[in-house]
Amino acid sequence: MCTTCRRKRADVPEGYDLPGKDLARILASEVARRGLTELTVTPVECLAVCRRPCTVAFAGPAKWTHLVGDLDAEAHVGDIVTAALAFARAPDGIVPWAERPQSIRNGGLARVPPLGFKP
Ligand code: FES
Repeated sequence: MCTTCRRKRADVPEGYDLPGKDLARILASEVARRGLTELTVTPVECLAVCRRPCTVAFAGPAKWTHLVGDLDAEAHVGDIVTAALAFARAPDGIVPWAERPQSIRNGGLARVPPLGFKP
């Protein structure tokens, strides 16, 4: 997940904050607290969708990768964990639309096939 997206804020001297840093910390804490060893939170410095913070990629070996933006550090931690667990259970990484939390549906940006994918 991206930790370097800037979110505009009129109430701070810099005019922006970095909400992905908080989200990465909160997510890692939640994953550890729940003992979700099948999930890994990996901070990265850009996912090339800089105007849609917070941005998260769901990725795994031989799975479609899903890029999701507009996620909030406080409001969407539960949704992200729910989506990540569903992603982890899906053999190809494609989770049925009805099983995706609303924030994950709304923030969908891209899905990318696994390397070597054959239709
Ligand atoms: S800085 Fe976050 S996607 Fe580019």
